[in-house]
Amino acid sequence: MHIPTLISRKRDGDELGSREIEKLIAAYTSGEVPDYQMSAFAMAVFFKGMTAAETAALTRSMMASGDRFEHPAGPPVVDKHSTGGIGDKVSLVLAPLVACAGCRVPMVSGRGLGITGGTLDKLESIPGFNVHLSLTQAAAQLAKLGVVMMGQTERFCPADRKLYALRDVTGTVPSIPLITASIMSKKLAESLDRLVLDVKYGSGAFMRTKHDAETLAASMVAVGAEMGVEVFTVLNPMKEPTGRSVGNALEVIEAIDCLEGGGPPDLRQIVLDLAEKIAGVSREVLESFLDDGSARRKFDELVAAQGGNPADLPRLSEIHRAPIIREMLAPTTGRVEKVDAGLIGQAALQLGAGRAKASDGVDLAVGFDRLAKVGEPIHAGQPLCRIHARTAVDFDMAEAMLGKALQISSHKIGDE
Ligand code: URA
Repeated sequence: MHIPTLISRKRDGDELGSREIEKLIAAYTSGEVPDYQMSAFAMAVFFKGMTAAETAALTRSMMASGDRFEHPAGPPVVDKHSTGGIGDKVSLVLAPLVACAGCRVPMVSGRGLGITGGTLDKLESIPGFNVHLSLTQAAAQLAKLGVVMMGQTERFCPADRKLYALRDVTGTVPSIPLITASIMSKKLAESLDRLVLDVKYGSGAFMRTKHDAETLAASMVAVGAEMGVEVFTVLNPMKEPTGRSVGNALEVIEAIDCLEGGGPPDLRQIVLDLAEKIAGVSREVLESFLDDGSARRKFDELVAAQGGNPADLPRLSEIHRAPIIREMLAPTTGRVEKVDAGLIGQAALQLGAGRAKASDGVDLAVGFDRLAKVGEPIHAGQPLCRIHARTAVDFDMAEAMLGKALQISSHKIGDE
């Protein structure tokens, strides 16, 4: 195969054959095709797109580049993927909840990058929680508990690991076929029966418009169908953060409230909207698992199985206590009109809750909680949120950013 010809054909808008794509990905994974040729290929795809058949071939090749889960016959194997939002702690609740319904959930997650947080970082705010499991360890835990939450192993979709790092530095991340293949290759390597995708759109999301979110959702559903996996999608606007907390440990604390039947209503609703697509039981049954302590018990079992101590969970706010925790007060009276998820994500990143590049560490303690929600009435001097910061300089910076993110309408309360 002559790689320059393949790149030129894609540049000129030709449809490539499945075999050609398979060979390209295998050669890239083994190092035969260098990064500079793969960058050119990714840019050609960015501009010319891919047909459904090409996208499916790319996904299949990337999935086949490493190890896959192999499940013995048994209950349905299901998972959820979110395209990433601000304050999105849904996975922490959904995985144990769906396991309560008798499903097996082999959830392979990622770390936060840019303004969106990552499930692995959040889980690591539980002391001792080990996300580095081998597929053999994961399979044993899945058979026993029905749920495992872990990171990608070295041998899990290595083609995606390489290609994603390359896309990140070559301006080729926002391409629907490349995003589809990247996400779906990892999820399909979990060997699922059913997958639900939470496709976010808006200022705090990867997809800025509903139209783009619909296009991505349709592309992922088509690839799933091609591979014999039932894929459901739920589109969620990310106009404000999910729940009232943004930050690693702070989000785990909120997720635990939800697992105990409490927590913010919007978080519970998203969890149930997604879970009911894949769990094979009714919404009412899922609600009962949250309200009767079953989901919380399953989460405790998960924490214990992966090296944590469930007794630490009620103490997370003490374990990760930022040096400065202060309220930010409403400057005027009115109704909360806007809580800009994108700006809040930026502010959390500046505080150190996220990472600007993959090699950065994250601060588990910092972020925001008790965030006001859109539509709530508020009086001047009442708290709009609490800021958890490492230093006074960080606090001032976050307060200034949140001053722009949180807007209060000038209507008097009760006017509307
Ligand atoms: N998440 C991924 O895993 N891959 C992408 O390409 C984009 C988001």
